Amino acid sequence: MDLASSLPFSLLLLLLPLSPCLGATPQSIHVKMLAVVHGLLGKDVQLPCHLVPKGVEVQVSQVTWLRQNQTSGTMSIAVYHPTHGVGFPSTGPGVERLAFVSQSQDPGSEFHNATLLIRDLRGEDEANYTCEFATFPGGNGKGTTLLRVLAEPKSHAESYEVASGPDPVTMASCVSSGGRPPARISWSSLLAGQSHETRTAEPGSDTFTVTSHLTQVPMARANGEKAICKVEHETLREPALLSVTLAVRYCPEVSISSHDDDWYVGRTEASLNCDAQSNPEPTSYNWSTISGSLPSTAVSQGAMLIFHPVDWSVNTTFICQVTNALGTGWANRTIHVKETSSAKESSAASLSTGQVVAIVVGVISVLSILGVFLWKRKSLCPGHQDRSATQVRRGCLFSFGAGSGLRDSVEALAAALGPVQGR
Ligand SMILES: *[C@@H]1O[C@H](CO)[C@@H](O)[C@H](O)[C@H]1NC(C)=O
Ligand SMILES: *[C@@H]1O[C@H](CO)[C@@H](O)[C@H](O)[C@H]1NC(C)=O
Ligand SMILES: *[C@@H]1O[C@H](CO)[C@@H](O)[C@H](O)[C@H]1NC(C)=O
Ligand SMILES: *[C@@H]1O[C@H](CO)[C@@H](O)[C@H](O)[C@H]1NC(C)=O
Ligand SMILES: *[C@@H]1O[C@H](CO)[C@@H](O)[C@H](O)[C@H]1NC(C)=O
Ligand SMILES: *[C@@H]1O[C@H](CO)[C@@H](O)[C@H](O)[C@H]1NC(C)=O
Repeated sequence: MDLASSLPFSLLLLLLPLSPCLGATPQSIHVKMLAVVHGLLGKDVQLPCHLVPKGVEVQVSQVTWLRQNQTSGTMSIAVYHPTHGVGFPSTGPGVERLAFVSQSQDPGSEFHNATLLIRDLRGEDEANYTCEFATFPGGNGKGTTLLRVLAEPKSHAESYEVASGPDPVTMASCVSSGGRPPARISWSSLLAGQSHETRTAEPGSDTFTVTSHLTQVPMARANGEKAICKVEHETLREPALLSVTLAVRYCPEVSISSHDDDWYVGRTEASLNCDAQSNPEPTSYNWSTISGSLPSTAVSQGAMLIFHPVDWSVNTTFICQVTNALGTGWANRTIHVKETSSAKESSAASLSTGQVVAIVVGVISVLSILGVFLWKRKSLCPGHQDRSATQVRRGCLFSFGAGSGLRDSVEALAAALGPVQGR
């Protein structure tokens, strides 16, 4: 509970005059600072530092800014004194880039805002900065701000066209340069792979270049797949997603297809198709047979082999060879030629079209008769006049309502024969 808000106002007034007595302790002033300030490389940054007296008037006797870094220890870099004004005692680099932002820096002025300006940020400015107020009668107070110097990286990703093979190779790379601190890079790809990262400090610019190589076994199926490089950095609100398309060069992978497998003597519209996957595209298709030359009735048209017509000479094994810039792939297919069409054979062996029609007509007439019988029964059944109802009710079968078809008829039949069930 807040003590001040719980006390009556008159009591507060009584307490106030006591404050100067406590003035000797540091608690009566407060130095307001930020824990962390982010600045961009090459840009200006302000390190806020403000004196907040706690209900007592204080005179500033001195303000000192100290910089601590891991190597060179603590040094005083900026000072304000009521009679001597401002000064920048450090002899190191960067003195000319420092300034107090306060409008009233003249000796004797009230100096409560000690915010420090650092121009043209460098990497070496990254350090802890302490702002120290010496006051009278408020005593001393200080605070520390960590200044982090950031730089937004520029990123790009690219893929390399590689030849397929059994050993892993670098298929893509992602480069993020000019980042401070170094960017974090990760890959996502549907195919299993590994990434190898290198990190280099850019001499003179206080930034880092991170390069990540995506390494995979270059399989043919990786060709055309996407891989995404994700770059994460403090200066980016959202990770940068850079997409690359992987490219693998591979020999043609060949298969032979046909519309159907019904090869009979005299068939006029028959062909074989040579299907090839490759990168780059195939440059030529070459049809031959296991015995060498093509039958006289076969005509090759690029990827297609057309038969005009099918005869006994087609009863052989065909080979399709596909060539691209990398090499040649091939496939074979054996054709079994028959005397007559297998479609004719199968219908002759089972049922003729006429027989099938006769059976269908017979089934429909039986169902129709059953339908009429059921409809009549339904008319005698009171309380269920809904003609569109399709539900089975105990003791009363549904009607052939609007939209009822063969399926309904079959259901009706099943319901009439089997036990009646509610749905
Ligand atoms: C200190 O001065 C700077 C520059 O005039 C100003 O932006 C900042 O708001 C001041 N801080 C406070 C706490 O008044
Ligand atoms: C510490 O400061 C010195 C001098 O300003 C600078 O050369 C050095 O790079 C700094 N070290 C770190 C870790 O920032
Ligand atoms: C700043 O101070 C913190 C805590 O004392 C320390 O962990 C950090 O390394 C310091 N950073 C720099 C840049 O000196
Ligand atoms: C097609 O392949 C056959 C058998 O491999 C070969 O003898 C013939 O020269 C090839 N023709 C062409 C045009 O490449
Ligand atoms: C067709 O070729 C097969 C071998 O693929 C052979 O067994 C069969 O006897 C041949 N048929 C005729 C009619 O030549
Ligand atoms: C035909 O292809 C099969 C595999 O699809 C292969 O095993 C066979 O050796 C091939 N035959 C010829 C003559 O190329």
